[in-house]
Amino acid sequence: MEDAMLQLPKAELHLHIEGTLEPELMMELAQKNHVSLPYDSVDAIRQAYQFTDLQSFLDIYYAGAAVLQDESDFTSLTWAYLLKCKEDNVVHTEIFFDPQTHTARGIAFETVLSGITTALKRGEDELGISSKLILCFLRHLSEEEAMKTLDQALPYKDQIIGVGLDSSELGNPPEKFQRVFARAIEEGFIPVAHAGEEGDVSYITGALNLLHVKRIDHGVQCIHDEALMDRLVKERIPLTVCPLSNIKLRVFDTMAEHNILQLLDRGLAVTVNSDDPAYFGGYINENFAAMRRSLRMNDQQLKQLAINSFEASFLEPEKKAYWIEQVKNY
Ligand code: ADE
Ligand code: ZN
Repeated sequence: MEDAMLQLPKAELHLHIEGTLEPELMMELAQKNHVSLPYDSVDAIRQAYQFTDLQSFLDIYYAGAAVLQDESDFTSLTWAYLLKCKEDNVVHTEIFFDPQTHTARGIAFETVLSGITTALKRGEDELGISSKLILCFLRHLSEEEAMKTLDQALPYKDQIIGVGLDSSELGNPPEKFQRVFARAIEEGFIPVAHAGEEGDVSYITGALNLLHVKRIDHGVQCIHDEALMDRLVKERIPLTVCPLSNIKLRVFDTMAEHNILQLLDRGLAVTVNSDDPAYFGGYINENFAAMRRSLRMNDQQLKQLAINSFEASFLEPEKKAYWIEQVKNY
């Protein structure tokens, strides 16, 4: 049965554009660009998506991204995601991109950025979807490399609202990136970071205290620290939670055990997001649908999550207020 409530307007705040690469497009681009893949069919690609933890996913995800070669590939990728947004009534999206995944393969920073922004402009014009871009540093690489990436981004400051931190969390704590975040903030970027996905609460407090982040990506491990949860409530620091991702990467064993509604009911500004939807079994509405099925999420909780998504966004205040009103009246 269709769940009409899932069509309420919403913002997505935790979405890696490289994670929207569907097996069909991966196969098509591999053929077009003569990139060899260790799979001989779309089904074989899907079969390979059996993850045991974050790293087992990242290995496959970085290998898949190798099919993205020219500017038009990044445009096709981003446009396909925006069409999914339209289907799910995502009216605003804040997209992560990982320049280092591409510059390491000899693809110019500008090729990546301009491919993505061409689609975003078309999304705004033709689909009415607003968007922002957040550049993520890969935390398994050095701070010096992150600094070089920040340098590459400076000429495009007007097109990139923030900086984030993703990739292998364990063993790559926030303190490793303190200097590059300080510089990014000085240059006017808004800081966010993945923290408390697999890492313990020290990764979340580190992101807050050392990187001065305005949002925590994931953050679900905060449940183990009452004082930290009090702080997140008091300071209204949003968590961009990704339920299906957390199940696929075994942060929780089953959806029924996910803590998102506990965090919501405790007053945290949690939001629902799809992270890497092509790899984790679905886009934002599939995340909401799974929460309906396994967590018995009610309409009031659903509306609060949608309101939070706009409140936690980097949208201009009048646009935030407009969309929050639309959700309330839905
Ligand atoms: N890169 C893409 N998805 C990620 C995730 N869930 N955690 C860390 N890095 C990522
Ligand atoms: Zn993520």
